[in-house]
Amino acid sequence: MSPFKLRSAAWFDGDDEVAVLHRVAAGISADDRGRAVIGIADTSSALNPCQAGFAAIIPELERGIRDGGAVPLRFPVMSLGEDLMKPSAMLYRNLVAMELEEQVRAHPLDGVVYLANCDKTVPAALLAAASARLPALLLLGGSRSAPLFAGRRLGSGTDLWRALEDRRAGMLNDGEWQQLEQTLACAGGGSCNTMGTASTMALVTEALAMALPGSTGCQLGSPELAEIAYRTGRIIADAASTGGAGAGADEVMTAAAVNNALRLVAAVGGSTNAVIHLAAVSGRLGRNLDLAEVDRLWAEVPLLADVEPCGSQLAHDFHDAGGLATLAAEMLPAGLLDGAVRLASGQTMAELAKTAVTDQAVIRPVADPVLPAPTLVVVSGSLAPDGAVLKTAAASSHLWQHTGRAVVFDDYADMRTRLDDPELPVTAEDVLVVRNCGPVGVPGMPEWGMAPIPAALAAAGVRDMVRVSDGRMSGTSFGTVVLHVAPEAAVGGPLAVIADGDLICLDVAARRLDLLVETTELELRLASWQPQTNEHLRGWPKLYRDHVSQAPQGCDLDFLTSPTEESRRFVPPVVGRS
Ligand code: FES
Repeated sequence: MSPFKLRSAAWFDGDDEVAVLHRVAAGISADDRGRAVIGIADTSSALNPCQAGFAAIIPELERGIRDGGAVPLRFPVMSLGEDLMKPSAMLYRNLVAMELEEQVRAHPLDGVVYLANCDKTVPAALLAAASARLPALLLLGGSRSAPLFAGRRLGSGTDLWRALEDRRAGMLNDGEWQQLEQTLACAGGGSCNTMGTASTMALVTEALAMALPGSTGCQLGSPELAEIAYRTGRIIADAASTGGAGAGADEVMTAAAVNNALRLVAAVGGSTNAVIHLAAVSGRLGRNLDLAEVDRLWAEVPLLADVEPCGSQLAHDFHDAGGLATLAAEMLPAGLLDGAVRLASGQTMAELAKTAVTDQAVIRPVADPVLPAPTLVVVSGSLAPDGAVLKTAAASSHLWQHTGRAVVFDDYADMRTRLDDPELPVTAEDVLVVRNCGPVGVPGMPEWGMAPIPAALAAAGVRDMVRVSDGRMSGTSFGTVVLHVAPEAAVGGPLAVIADGDLICLDVAARRLDLLVETTELELRLASWQPQTNEHLRGWPKLYRDHVSQAPQGCDLDFLTSPTEESRRFVPPVVGRS
């Protein structure tokens, strides 16, 4: 077996003018020569407050890398701020994954730490790590504080959506609404402090052995977060310096680790977005995430974490209750996790479980859960031939079996325009359909799936209705919202031809979502359907729309998945000057 050789040696070894140029450009001193080089992919941005915590912990990360015998080199990467990017940060997830992969590919790096915290920076980094195939870890940037509003701590996202519903129902006046805004502004930076997409993906990242256990919910500014940063530096320095089997991120994210991640998402009532991101990660590794198998994995898992939006506490409480370790201790004896999967700390899941906090309030025993299984389901049927997802833990159980008339909105703008029109014929028993929100349709699959309750119904006390969409919803949202309907309307899925007044049947127990229209009638409608043209698209949105896959395949670009052996060759020819 040939001895392990640093990848960066292709740039830095030798005494010719090119090696000299490379060492000078990278600031590699005589003492640094022969050491592994660790890239720090920095997504900090004033446009993304969720990434605000990195400036404080990068020095600790660099110290850990140095103490581990390696050389840190920081480089900037586009940031994906969930709140400010339009039409959706999801449109740019794959772009950042490509940027990260190519930055790593083109430079003399032996390992990389991706700084990621917000909803899409985390999966973008996981995708990049899967494709770049170098030793890699993510450093998560801490969750934001929870200031008090009306005597209770504000959960990011969730409590804003609740307040919006109260306002639409006339239960929150203008002064209170303004006070809410001021309170939200006091929360500062960091990731959402609920079990939204960011916290869910943080837990997924721990389960995939791509971030240290205990990262999820760790508060921005806490000494513990700085310690995690230091340890991350030590571990990546060691992995990059020694190489060997299992060092590459692609080898770490095994199918068993993905299965664990999916079950953990169910146990915390996590974001439906996680299944899209895990499908994309699996695709990068040449594996297909089968939605029927996902539903089987979810079927036995009850809600164990009492965290918003499905519970009452916050991500900090989840962290203080032991986070992944405590969940593992509860789930392993019930056979709900694979204890042999190795984590970023070097421990197996079973070994981590021995460090659990004996908290029974925020993370509950399997025998006494917050809610019984399932917390998430996959449904399919004539309205969603390729599947759709519903977070049952955030839905009203009386709507799990429901048949209602469709009230169809052609797109998000149509929904915003007509939803509160007093003339809109809608009742609480109807099903609100918002279509053309999918990956191709916008493009970018924004979180437009959760249509608000029409104002007149909200004022009358209606708090939930069945809603169906080919879009996504925020992980902090709630309601009986069937999401990610595939195929989406924009590519001619049945959602495209549903009409006002058609009956839709949701049956969670049977895992069905059906359009109660005669097959011949449905076929006639589909035969006369024409796709909408989108001539104005150019640049990235056009490339995205032309190559993006549907939600069950992870909304990745077709030319980035299922790598061939040839495409796995990673060191570019480092010959001569650039
Ligand atoms: Fe960035 Fe929630 S909006 S983490």
